[in-house]
Amino acid sequence: MSEEAEAVNLQKEYIEKVKNIIKNKELKYTILTLGCQLNENDSEKICGMVEQMGYTKTEKIEEANLAIFNTCCVRENAEERLFGKIGELKNLKEKNNLIIAIGGCMMQEEHIIERLKKSFKYVDIIFGTHTLHKLPEDIFRVIEKREKVKDIVDIDGYVYENLPIKRTSKVTGSVTIMYGCNNFCTYCIVPFVRGRERSRKPKDIIEEVKKLASSGYKEVILLGQNVNSYLCSEMNKIKQGKMQDVNGDFAKIYSFAKLLIEINKIEGIERIRFVSPHPKDFTDDVIEAIKNSDKVCKYIHLPLQSGSTKMLKKMNRNYTKEQYLELIEKIKSKIPEIKFSTDIIVGFAGETEEDFENTLDVVRKVEFEQVFMFIYSRRVGTVGDKMPDQIPEDIKHKRFDRLKTLVEEIIAKNNKNYLGTTQKILVEGPSKGNAKLLTGRTETNKVVVFEGDESLINSIIDVKIIEDHMWYFNGEMIVTIHSI
Ligand code: SAH
Ligand code: SF4
Ligand code: F3S
Repeated sequence: MSEEAEAVNLQKEYIEKVKNIIKNKELKYTILTLGCQLNENDSEKICGMVEQMGYTKTEKIEEANLAIFNTCCVRENAEERLFGKIGELKNLKEKNNLIIAIGGCMMQEEHIIERLKKSFKYVDIIFGTHTLHKLPEDIFRVIEKREKVKDIVDIDGYVYENLPIKRTSKVTGSVTIMYGCNNFCTYCIVPFVRGRERSRKPKDIIEEVKKLASSGYKEVILLGQNVNSYLCSEMNKIKQGKMQDVNGDFAKIYSFAKLLIEINKIEGIERIRFVSPHPKDFTDDVIEAIKNSDKVCKYIHLPLQSGSTKMLKKMNRNYTKEQYLELIEKIKSKIPEIKFSTDIIVGFAGETEEDFENTLDVVRKVEFEQVFMFIYSRRVGTVGDKMPDQIPEDIKHKRFDRLKTLVEEIIAKNNKNYLGTTQKILVEGPSKGNAKLLTGRTETNKVVVFEGDESLINSIIDVKIIEDHMWYFNGEMIVTIHSI
């Protein structure tokens, strides 16, 4: 048995130990997850472990005996939000004998740990991104031995399989296919807090997706910081003789393209999505795989970050404005119905008016379906933070507003193209705004609200788009009448 598998088994023993201690006590836990979908998937594993111990979930912090925070540090605002939340817990701590556990990306930053130690001494458990699987042991130590636990390691990282999981959605299953990042974009903290790229074995991913299919999931979303580098590190190591493929794990599936093709064959799964690919690694085999795999959504999230070649170089993105646009054109020529969404950072160090205009230019040319826009936030320890030519906040905000106006204009224009069309909708559940209506998504991730019976939840149906709004459409179900 591998060391990782042994480590997971040991934690299963701790789950049983805690279960025995807290049985019949009807203890509750609450969890707050900040950050990206990878963090949300980690939280599903945290919930899986904690629920196996016997804790039940509550949304009300006043009722909780265990409060868990899964943190993000990609931008500054997350920090203040977290410290505010922990501050609010001080009184509850004594009242309910509350155990407070804080984990995730932010805990991998030294200055954060210092601040926690100084100002929030009442926190019980601090765990990092590489020690999430050890939460059962950490909780055991707090309950049984009344210790404070700091369980953080600064390593390149391992992959732990077979952790319990409690999924949030009954329609879409998130499957992390790789951890970490090797790219070191100069603005980004992720490589520092998540370690180096490491991919899960194909067989473990396939098994997880098959399990999702047999539990009735229709959609899977494959997650990673750079999904199209899936298995790149491993295959390089094999080539260089630093690793051996003893069990033939990588014989059939040895790339992201091959993985897509195999997942496409899994019966029961009807939609496959993935986030995020990196433009620099978007090879032809991936384009072919998307084209030829009928279940893979013809909708790609392709982070741009900036439309200026000079800024892209400063950001260490490894592509130019022209290369990005050529890639978009190449994908469009092979898959004409393809649509794109993107991420953009405004106001990175040294960004001039001309650089920013280049970003607007790419946005106009590609006409993205959706753009996630961010104001550059300086991150301690990154190269970007040390660059001398930082942009004043007011200019960043003004540029952000200009970009937002353009994006919304384009989205509004694009939305009109949907009117009168019939879209395949994966029905997710009752609409949040009006529980009598159902909500679902098009292949291009547009939210559609329509009248229909709850029995349609988790199926893909035809809906005609009758009204467009900026962030959702109203639709009408198309009823197919079969002649007898
Ligand atoms: N690995 C993915 C995304 C990771 S983080 C990729 O490479 O595309 C998600 C998004 O947050 C990034 O795409 C970027 O647009 C934004 N982001 C990352 N660091 C940031 C920072 N320091 N300030 C503002 N936005 C940032
Ligand atoms: Fe950050 Fe770049 Fe890695 Fe994405 S690819 S996580 S932006 S360093
Ligand atoms: Fe945030 Fe960590 Fe994701 S820093 S964006 S939660 S990988």
